Amino acid sequence: MVSEATIESILQEKRLFDPPAEFSQQAHIKSQAEYEQLFERAKADPEKFWAELAEQELDWFQPWDTVLDWQPPFAQWFVNGKINISYNCLDRHLTTWRRNKAALIWEGEPGDSRTLTYAQLHREVCQAANVLKQLGVKKGDVVGIYMPMIPEAAIAMLACARIGAPHTVVFGGFSAEALRDRLVDGKAKLVITADGGWRKDAIVPLKEQVDKAIANEAAPSVENVLVVRRTAQEIAMQSGRDHWWHECLKQASADCPAEPMDSEDMLFILYTSGSTGKPKGVVHTTGGYNLYTHITTKWVFDLRDTDVYWCTADVGWITGHSYIVYGPLSNGATTLMYEGAPRPSNPGCFWDVIEKYGVTVFYTAPTAIRAFIKMGDQLPKARNLSSLRLLGTVGEPINPESWVWYQQVIGGGRCPVVDTWWQTETGGHMITPLPGAVPTKPGSATRPFPGILADVVDLEGNAVEDNQGGYLAVRYPWPGMMRTVFGDPDRFRRTYWEHIPPKDGKYVYFAGDGARKDKEGYFWIMGRVDDVINVAGHRLGTMEIESALVSHPAVAEAAVVGKPDEVKGSDVVAFVTLEGTYTPSDDLIKELKKHVSQEIGAIARPGEIRFSDALPKTRSGKIMRRLLRSLAAGEEVTGDTSTLEDMGVLDKLRQGG
Ligand code: PRX
Repeated sequence: MVSEATIESILQEKRLFDPPAEFSQQAHIKSQAEYEQLFERAKADPEKFWAELAEQELDWFQPWDTVLDWQPPFAQWFVNGKINISYNCLDRHLTTWRRNKAALIWEGEPGDSRTLTYAQLHREVCQAANVLKQLGVKKGDVVGIYMPMIPEAAIAMLACARIGAPHTVVFGGFSAEALRDRLVDGKAKLVITADGGWRKDAIVPLKEQVDKAIANEAAPSVENVLVVRRTAQEIAMQSGRDHWWHECLKQASADCPAEPMDSEDMLFILYTSGSTGKPKGVVHTTGGYNLYTHITTKWVFDLRDTDVYWCTADVGWITGHSYIVYGPLSNGATTLMYEGAPRPSNPGCFWDVIEKYGVTVFYTAPTAIRAFIKMGDQLPKARNLSSLRLLGTVGEPINPESWVWYQQVIGGGRCPVVDTWWQTETGGHMITPLPGAVPTKPGSATRPFPGILADVVDLEGNAVEDNQGGYLAVRYPWPGMMRTVFGDPDRFRRTYWEHIPPKDGKYVYFAGDGARKDKEGYFWIMGRVDDVINVAGHRLGTMEIESALVSHPAVAEAAVVGKPDEVKGSDVVAFVTLEGTYTPSDDLIKELKKHVSQEIGAIARPGEIRFSDALPKTRSGKIMRRLLRSLAAGEEVTGDTSTLEDMGVLDKLRQGG
C-alpha cells in the first residue's frame, strides 16, 4: 500500500535523470533509440525476438521445435528443447577463462567468508547432486530447501536443477507450521537445511523447525533430511532420516553430468501469498525461466566480467532465485551473497561489504533505503563506495525522495538507478529502465522490458487514458512467466487470467497492482489493489494472518489491514473480536502477536492489534476493509458507509474498541 503522501509526491515528480554518457558508451544497450528499436522489434514478432536470444545466449542440448505454444492461459516455451540451467550456470563457463573466476563470494556471520570459483562451485554442485541421487531423489521429485544465506543454499538449488528435481525454497524466517504447509503441498521427498543460521546476532534453529514440521508423519512425503553444519550447536539427528551434508559430500563423486531437461520441466515451486486462501505454489519451468533471468540480468544490471554484483535479497524469495543465483551465474558473473543484515550492533554493515569487495552493482529494497536514510548520511559517507556504478531497487514502490537520496548519497550522483517492477509470478524484471538507455524519473519503474506488452487497464481490459489510474496488466506471454499454480491450474486461470475477462480469445495477465502511465509511456506503480500487504518488501496475504489469529482460542473473528509505515512501507494492523470469556489485555496482545509469529513467521507479526466488540460489515456480511484501513491509518472515514450494518460499530472502533 502506498501512503497518500507518497502518491502526492509521485504525482508531483518532474525530475528526469539521463543515463550518464560514460555509462551508456560501455553499456549493453547504449541509447534510447536502441531500446526503442529492440522494443518495437520484440513487439512486432515476440517469438522471433525470444528465439534469437535463446539461441545466442544459452546452451541447448537439443533445439526446440516451436518457440511458443499458447493455449491461454497456459504457455509452453521452446517446446521440445532440451536444456539444463545448472549446465548454463556452471559447466559452460568451465571451458573458458571463467573457470577460475569467482562465481560466488560469500560474506558470512560472524566474520566468516568464502569465495568459490566456477570450477569449485561446479564440483560441489556435482557432489551434492550425487548425494541427492544416493538418497533416492529422482528426476521430478520435489526437494524442500530451508536454509540460511550460505553458499550451500545456492549449491543445493543448482544440485536439484542438475538432476531435474524441482526445489521449493522456504524462507528461513518462516515458522515450522508454514514450512510444513509448503512441504506437504509440494510433496517434498527430502529437505535440505542447516543446524542453524545467523540472524541479527542470534541463532535461528532451522533443524529444530524442520523436526517440528515433519514430526509425527505431519509431512509424510519427507523421507530424508540433509543437514549443513553452520552454527555448530547441539541438535538432534534422527538415525536413518537425518544426514550430515559434509559427511555425505566427502564421499560423493564430483562427476555428475547435467540431466537434459525438457524446456517445460518444472524447475521450482515458490510459494507466495495471494488475496485468498493459503499461499500458492508458483511454478516456474526450465528453458523460459533460464532465458528470461539471463537476459534481464544482463541488460538491466548491464553486467560485465569485471563486476562484483550484490543483491541483498534472501534466496527464500524470487529475487534471490532469479538475481542471486540463476541470472548472474548463467551470465558467468561474480555474485555476492551476504548472511548478515543491518542491525543496531552493525548499522553500517552493507557499506562495509561494498567497500571490502569493491561491489560495482548493488540491488536492494526501498525499505532498506528508507531505514538507511533514518540512520543518517554519516554511515555510508564514512566508507569508500566509489566502486559502485549501478544501483537497483525492488519489492515495493520507492518514493522519489528515497530514490534521489539513494542516487546521490550511495551512488555519488554518478550511478544510474534501476527501479525494477516484477513479481514471483513473472520470474524476472518486467518494467524497468535499461540503465544505459532509458532516462529515469524518481519513483517510476519507467518502461517495459523489450518483449513485455504491459499496460494500464480497466476491469474490462480496456487501456485507460494517460495519467489515469488503473490496473497493471500484461497482454502477451513472456518466457519467464509462471506456468501454473502447483496442483491447482484452475486457481492460476482465475487469479491471473480471468480477473479481467478474456475478450475475443485474448487473455490479459492481471498483476494485482494499481498503476498509472504518463504521456511518455512511463509506468508509476501504486501498490497492491487486492488484500495483499507489502511489509518491508515481504508479501503477506491478509487472509493468512487472519486464519492464524482465528486459530488462537481467544479469537472469534479477525480482520487484518495494512497501515502506512515510514520505513516498512506498510505495517500489519489486526482488528480482533474475542470469544466470550476472554477480555482485552496487553498480555493477550503480546500472546496473539507471538501466536502469529509461530503460525507464519516473524515477518507476519502484527505491529498493532485492536480489540472490538464487532467488525464493520455490509448487510451481506462482508467485512468492510476500506473502513478498517482508514481507521488504522487514523484517517477520517469517508466514502459510502450506507451498506454498513451497524453504524455504532464505527464509533466504537474509532475509540479503540
Ligand atoms: O506490489 C508489487 C511489489 O511487489 C509485488 C510482488 O511481490 P513478490 O512476488 O514478493 O516479488 C517481490 C520481488 C519481485 C508486486 O505485485 N513490487 C515489486 N517490485 C516493485 C513493486 N512495487 C513497486 N515498484 C517495484 N519496483
